[in-house]
Amino acid sequence: MPRINPSILAADFVNMQRDLDRIATADLVHVDVMDNHFVPNLTFGPQMVGRIHDVSAIPLDVHLMIDDPDRWAPGYAELGAYSVTFHAEAASDPVALARRLRSMGARAGVALKPGTPADPYIDLLEEFDQVLVMTVEPGFGGQSFMPETMPKLTALREAVSARGLDVWLQVDGGITEETIVTAAKAGADTFVAGSSVFRAADTAAQITLLRDTAAQHAH
Ligand code: DX5
Ligand code: ZN
Repeated sequence: MPRINPSILAADFVNMQRDLDRIATADLVHVDVMDNHFVPNLTFGPQMVGRIHDVSAIPLDVHLMIDDPDRWAPGYAELGAYSVTFHAEAASDPVALARRLRSMGARAGVALKPGTPADPYIDLLEEFDQVLVMTVEPGFGGQSFMPETMPKLTALREAVSARGLDVWLQVDGGITEETIVTAAKAGADTFVAGSSVFRAADTAAQITLLRDTAAQHAH
């Protein structure tokens, strides 16, 4: 089944526990860490993510939009994140960092901005548990899905299938019940959705709709 990971960037930050309860049927909770340097926006750091981990019923899918992840990412594995994804553009040694995250018991993910090619990572897929193909420029929720990123996903899906790997292919940005069809067809199996989940009156129904729609169009 496709995984649906709601992004709490679209939650109410002063009612986080309530909003975590609204997404209890999700697969993982997507946690966007932004440092105001790698992206022009600021969210929260390890202290807040640690508390979210304490109170969340579902595992954390941490997306680090920060400079120098080589230094900071292991801290998120240490506090119990199930998955830690850092940006390829920001890491000085992505393979060494992924190995370190795995050795700490986390799944290791690498994220690609829309303009970053996937080719260098296709040879390195064995080193990662997830590749995040950004479908918007990272930094803000509520932006429009960029279909021009889909060829990267198709190439990644082909390589993952050909080599029989258990690498999750995640998309993040502008995912709705409409755009999820395009992303699922291109080969994504893990879907981040912020606005489309949290703006729904019935968040559980929206999660089910996204999951069922993705399953119906799975690659
Ligand atoms: C954007 C973040 C996303 C964001 C997605 O930089 O990485 O996770 O929350 O939000 P929507 O689904 O509203 O595009
Ligand atoms: Zn994200």
